[in-house]
Amino acid sequence: MGVDTSTIRTVRVTRYVTPLREGGSLPALAEADDGFLYALKFRGAGQGSKALIAELLGGEIARALGFRVPEIVFAQLDEAFGRTEPDEEIQDLLQASTGLNLALHYLSGAITFDPVVTTLDPALASRIVWLDCLLTNVDRTAKNTNMLMWHKELWLIDHGASLYFHHTWDNSHEQAVRSFTQVNNHVLLPWASQLREADAELRPKLTASVIQRIVQLVPDEWLANHDVQSPEEAREVYRRFITMRAAASENFVNEAQDARKRVI
Ligand SMILES: Nc1ncnc2c1ncn2[C@@H]1O[C@H](COP(=O)(O)OP(=O)(O)O)[C@@H](O)[C@H]1O
Ligand SMILES: [Mg+2]
Repeated sequence: MGVDTSTIRTVRVTRYVTPLREGGSLPALAEADDGFLYALKFRGAGQGSKALIAELLGGEIARALGFRVPEIVFAQLDEAFGRTEPDEEIQDLLQASTGLNLALHYLSGAITFDPVVTTLDPALASRIVWLDCLLTNVDRTAKNTNMLMWHKELWLIDHGASLYFHHTWDNSHEQAVRSFTQVNNHVLLPWASQLREADAELRPKLTASVIQRIVQLVPDEWLANHDVQSPEEAREVYRRFITMRAAASENFVNEAQDARKRVI
């Protein structure tokens, strides 16, 4: 029963609808051959395929931990796609993104989460802060919450700035156990009064087999130009990083609790 969470569907992009102007990664609203609308994230945008890897790993880890995340799919862009696109910048982006991209099911009519408008329960706020400390996600700030309210429920989007160790790719062991000082800027930190409980609840859910299943989802195509030998080896670095970080969660929980004392 239910959906098979071990695989990611692949769709073909059939129509570029409009840019989703907000953050820096130039995502677009697009339609695919299954008839659905998606928030499409391009491998040809600034951070390249690393942003897509972060989006996939971050989003699927969040889902495995029980958060609401729109369905993530691989989105195939054909070479001929976008040749008739009149905007030159968009045409360049489309051309640089031929192949596999990533898309999130578009939550039509969703509104940006605003902590002033919607008060979150401390348990949920704490779980989200815990997730972002695990993922080293710097992108859940008051200015840009990257959370949506849809049908009265909170949904997490935009994990493209997670796992930032992969931009330098060295000292990954050291970075895995480090605390996360940027938690200072987390929009939910003031409400995250149950970080210990969140830690006790979430850490056991991230088993070795869950982590293994998720890193296996990263396509070779996104790892081809990686700074290490092979896609297999790169996946192994991600697996180790996430595993070590979860095992050392006490470090980031302590850091977040200290940071919280300073903001409340
Ligand atoms: N799945 C989605 N459903 C509805 N709106 C979305 C979805 N994904 C993104 N958006 C909208 O597009 C904006 C930009 O997308 P986001 O993933 O945050 O990319 P970035 O911040 O890197 O530009 C979001 O802030 C949100 O308003
Ligand atoms: Mg964003």
